[in-house]
Amino acid sequence: MKRLFLLVCMLGLSLTTAASEINIVPKPLRVEPAEGSFTVTSQTPVVAGQDKELLRVGRLFAGMVEPVVGRNLPVKKSTDDAAIVLSVDGSLGEEAYLLSVTPEGIAVQGGSPKGVLYGLQSLRQLVVDGKGVVPAVKITDKPFFAYRGAMLDVVRHFMPVEDVKAFIDIVAMHKLNRFHWHLTDDQGWRIDIRKYPDLARVGSVRKETLFGHLRTSSEYDGRPYGGYYTQSEIREVVAYAAERYVEVIPEIEMPGHALGALTPYPWLGCRGENYEVWTRWGISSDVFCAGKETTFEFIENVLAEVIDLFPSKYIHIGGDECPKARWKECPYCQQRMKENGLQNEEQLQSYFMQRVEKWLHGHGREIIGWDEILQGGISKTATVMSWRGSKGGIAAAKAGNKAIMAPNTHCYLDYNQTSEPRYEPLANGKFLPVRMVYALDPYDQLTEAERAFILGVQANLWTEYIPDFFHAKHMLLPRLAALSEVGWAYDRKDFEDFRRRMAHFRRTYDVAGYNYATYFFDGKDE
Ligand code: ACM
Ligand code: ZN
Repeated sequence: MKRLFLLVCMLGLSLTTAASEINIVPKPLRVEPAEGSFTVTSQTPVVAGQDKELLRVGRLFAGMVEPVVGRNLPVKKSTDDAAIVLSVDGSLGEEAYLLSVTPEGIAVQGGSPKGVLYGLQSLRQLVVDGKGVVPAVKITDKPFFAYRGAMLDVVRHFMPVEDVKAFIDIVAMHKLNRFHWHLTDDQGWRIDIRKYPDLARVGSVRKETLFGHLRTSSEYDGRPYGGYYTQSEIREVVAYAAERYVEVIPEIEMPGHALGALTPYPWLGCRGENYEVWTRWGISSDVFCAGKETTFEFIENVLAEVIDLFPSKYIHIGGDECPKARWKECPYCQQRMKENGLQNEEQLQSYFMQRVEKWLHGHGREIIGWDEILQGGISKTATVMSWRGSKGGIAAAKAGNKAIMAPNTHCYLDYNQTSEPRYEPLANGKFLPVRMVYALDPYDQLTEAERAFILGVQANLWTEYIPDFFHAKHMLLPRLAALSEVGWAYDRKDFEDFRRRMAHFRRTYDVAGYNYATYFFDGKDE
């Protein structure tokens, strides 16, 4: 009897151990641990059949686990050896996957090669965590939200192509599927447009940069700062992202945040002269003139090149933080309002956004705008990106507009990570610990019917206080993992369980060589 009791205890213990060895972020839908394990070694082949895309996905996986197994796994069309076998099963959803590990081998089935890559991202975590030894398990997984994004601002600080690719690797690691690339703003224009070469030549350079925090500093560094992407670099990034099933959504800001364009082409502004790419943070009162036809001609010409470079369904056209002072004094803008029966400058902005949206519709694209596009009236077809808290997204969904939740209250990863900013590098100042990112509820205050308008979630990385990509990683990680779990596993969130799994997921950051913040892991983020 005593022996039997001991046996039952041991069995229970071994089952708990097996279950607790499966630690994946974001939390999979279903995890069924089994007996035994499979060891991935440098000799374990990845088998992808005849499918070229699966062969490519297999090679991506081989690169990811190379630091653990010691060399790139062989990727083959077939084998007789115990292997990691990839396949597509059209009966699964496009992003869904099944990961099955037995002592005989590993099978990764996806609804598409994209789903297979998500399965391999999970397997990567298990390979890292067990140093090659993967516990037997059956995992069934699929994402909750269709849109799972991350934004990178390359204006306030420029990130070279290699860093942008590294950002995309991080996006893919977290099973996100959109990269929102913030390319133009008051502090610079960072995309070459052939028709207007001075955008890159002149608009990308500011003569110096504010040193220290916007609220406390009036010191400048006295050094010119610039950087832009050529069109071939843009294509290279878009292709790199597509290979990882990440769609790139470019953002061309209008009508505000426009000094990068007004400086080289002053006729785009209401005053028409004396603009300078901004050297400090914040919002310039100088914006695109909404009265002159030449402004729209310019924007259409720019967007024509943009849509040629970016195949995404969505083009982000900004719309946030557009001061109306210049429009109030501008005869062209006032004339436009009169001719179109517009009551105020908010409605003039609405005219601006809807006119650009109409042009993009004519070219088969849809717009995303920051939540200010709700002011002064919004078209039925625009998608709102909620950033001033969730209220814009809630209002959009209630009005029947699609919305993406990126509220600064939960998704602004440029904010401080602890309540003791003096122990952190200089940052925005507002406090956003991991648990607050995790607490985001994209469905807050919405009825069942209204929820259908929420496409998903996005984390934003504004870079005023982020001088380079090394620092960017400190801000992104591990908070991006919390955002990823909201987007992928909203219906199964559990913060304490997340905390436990993160202790394992950080090893994947370590193996990838990422500079991540440790406040959360050390319990110092309160
Ligand atoms: C924003 O943070 N101005 C969208
Ligand atoms: Zn004007």
